[in-house]
Order: sequence, then C-alpha cells, then structure tokens
Amino acid sequence: MKKFSIVIAGGGSTYTPGIVMMLMDNLERFPIRSLKLYDIDEKRQEIIAKAVEIALKKAAPDVKFSYTTDPKEAFTDVDFCMAHIRSGGYPMRELDEKIPLRHGVVGQETCGPGGIAYGMRSIPDIMQLIDYMEAYSPHCWMLNYSNPAAIVAEACRVLRPHAKIINICDMPVGTLRRMSYIVGKTPKELDVCYYGLNHFGWWTSVKGKDGTDYTKQLIDYVSKNGYLTQQAIETQHMDESWQATHKKAADLLAVTPDCLPNTYLKYYLYPDYVTEHSNPDYTRANEVMDGREKKVFGAARSIIEAGRFEGTEFEVDNHAAFIADLARAIAYNTQERMLCIVENKGAISNFDAHAMVEVPCLVGSDGPKPLCQGEIPTFQLGLMQQQAAVERLVVEAYCEHSYQKLWQALTLSKTVPSAKKAREILDDFIKANQDYWPKLD
Ligand code: G6P
Ligand code: MN
Repeated sequence: MKKFSIVIAGGGSTYTPGIVMMLMDNLERFPIRSLKLYDIDEKRQEIIAKAVEIALKKAAPDVKFSYTTDPKEAFTDVDFCMAHIRSGGYPMRELDEKIPLRHGVVGQETCGPGGIAYGMRSIPDIMQLIDYMEAYSPHCWMLNYSNPAAIVAEACRVLRPHAKIINICDMPVGTLRRMSYIVGKTPKELDVCYYGLNHFGWWTSVKGKDGTDYTKQLIDYVSKNGYLTQQAIETQHMDESWQATHKKAADLLAVTPDCLPNTYLKYYLYPDYVTEHSNPDYTRANEVMDGREKKVFGAARSIIEAGRFEGTEFEVDNHAAFIADLARAIAYNTQERMLCIVENKGAISNFDAHAMVEVPCLVGSDGPKPLCQGEIPTFQLGLMQQQAAVERLVVEAYCEHSYQKLWQALTLSKTVPSAKKAREILDDFIKANQDYWPKLD
C-alpha cells in the first residue's frame, strides 16, 4: 500500500501535536512515510517539533520526521499539505478581537471586523503556500483549515482558481458530533443536508444512513438546550465561553425554527448580546493564550526536558479526525460525504453561482463535488447575500488596495451599526496591521 508524505504548515500551532497524534492513530487507514513541520516562526515551531520528534520515536518510529522553515525543503516530495496557519499569531488575534470591542462592536477572530482584518493578513500567506506547493510538489493537495476560511476560500477562487486546495472547517464536524450524542449514534452513521457560507449556515436535515430522520428530535432538543450535551468526549470547544456559545444556539434556532443553526450565527443575529457579554480587556485570544497555548507548550517542554514521551502528554485530537478522512477521500477516492467550502455552481439554486458556499460534497480523487441543496428561504438568502458581499469586497479591497472597498465591507457587515463606526474601526485596524496589510489607497 502506498505511504504518503505530509507537510503540516503552521508547525508551531497549538493544534499540531494533537493532529500529529491523530494521524498516528490513523496510520492503518492512512499510512504515512514522512511527516514534516513547516512554520515561519522558527522558535515556536522548534519547541513543538522537538517534542513531537520524541513522541514519534515511541508512537511511530517508522515515520520519517523533520521540521524546517525553508519552504523548498518543506514542500519538496509531499502528497498533502495540511495547513493551519495563523497570520500574525495570537497577538494579532487579540487585536482583531479588541479593536472592534473598543468601539462597542463584536470582536471575533473570524466574524465581523476582526475576521475582515484577519482575512487581509491571511490572503497573501495562503497564496504563498499554494505557490510553494505548486512549485515543489505540483501533484500535492492542500487541505486548508486556516482562517478566516470564508475569505480565504473567496481569495483562492479569485487568485488561484485552479489550485488543488480544499478549504474546510471543523465547526460543523464538531457540532455534528454533539448531534450524534443527542440522538445516540456516531457521526459516521449520520448524513446531513446543510447550506450556508463558512461560519454562517444551517442544517436542514440530519438522518441516519438507514433513513431514520432525526431532524425534529434535534430541533426539539436544541430549542431547549442548544448544543450542550451531557456526554461530550471532546478535545475542543470545551472552555466555558464555548459552552455559552453552544447554549446560545437555542436562541438562534428560535429565529429559524425549522433548521439547525451554526453556532457562529450568534455574532450576526445577537451582536448586542455578544458585546454585552464580552470583556474588551480579556477576549478569547487571552483565554487561548492562557489556556491551550500554555498547556500545549508546557507539555512540549516537559517532554523535551525528560527526553521521553510517556504517551499521554499530548492528547489525540478527536476533532481533527476529519482531516484524515479528507486526505483518505482524495487518496483512495472514497467519495465520502463531507462539508467543504466550494464555489456554489447551483448547489444552492437561488444563490450566486460564483459565491463560495459551505455545502455537503462528495470528495474523491478530483476533489469535492457539491451536492444540490435546492432553494433556500428568503431570510437565510438575504443574510447570505449580505455576508457573501462582505467577503467579496474584502478580497477586492485586497487585490485593488482599496480603502473604499474595505470600508464598504466593514459597513456592510451585519455586526457593524454604521459607516461611521466602520471607518473608525478600519482606521484603527490599518495602524495595527501595518506590517501585514498592503498599503490602501
Ligand atoms: C472552531 C472553528 C475554527 C476556529 C476555532 C477557534 O473550531 O471552526 O475555525 O478557529 O473554533 O477556537 P478557539 O478555541 O481558538 O477559540
Ligand atoms: Mn472554522
């Protein structure tokens, strides 16, 4: 059986050890001969990489491991690039969240002004990864879960339309797992209908592979509890702030009572609630830096100090199993049904054919093929048109270096109350992002 060569872009990420452990757990389904880490932040990556190296000696001694900051070395002879980069790191995420909050507006890494600012940073970095991949391993596929996925996907459509990149998000996967706990099944036993943009969508049905329809049962449950579940064997989305987000889904469902909402809709449907419950001096970025980052880097340092891996310091990241499924789908043409962010092309029949939408796809060796979700109701359609226009304006602003278009993007975001506020936030963002954004005229 062919063994694959993988590069993880964003090697120094807090998610890297969990993903590596997950890949090692899946070696029988998805054999790996070589694993490389690539990052532009040498110091950060080194800590993770040295610990992963020790862990792999124990967990999978046959897998060749290396790490580098040299793109040529990283991208030569690879079959898959798994990309989870964060342009600007957590310090810039902190600003993405805090700057809008200072103006009384939602501060979130991917939604509203914060997502727009982050998008402007991510676009060039993702394009560069694609170029490295195409230069050094033209047959390689990039499985990209770098954020903000909606804007990144739109930028790929415009700037690299033929690239072998699949943009994907773990939120629907995580929520589906919660749904599976609620109905007493496993996620693999369920098939969904879903439509939307990334971090902006709805499930219209959740059924067992045997045809049993669980949609009504789930709607009933979520209307009372949101996606809070008793049983939650999760490695992600467990902090208190996430629990509040899962719970808030009940109020999202109240707005569209016949379909199950993506939790991220709370930033668009209840922005006032979100700002009232945010601390402008301590946001999710702070929680992550004080929580996950300390924990993962602490574990890495103790492995390095001890010079050995006991087997439990790094958790197998169950949320990341979809990455192995996706790689398998391409490698073995499994035609597995997965949600991906793809050009609409009629999948949502009354929506812009060229917009990047998140819908179920059959994934095989040629990439994802969207499944038709039919017509969607006026309320969701209106919201999506507005948000898709925001995302398109950001990419146009990036390409044309246009202050005007970026101001329009912020003004159009449902999270921003006026053009005046949009301009104030934009001007703060321009100062904060000097090292990252193109100069806008
Ligand atoms: C979900 C989303 C990701 C996002 C992450 C943030 O998984 O799908 O796109 O990056 O949440 O989680 P964090 O724990 O960093 O706030
Ligand atoms: Mn996501």
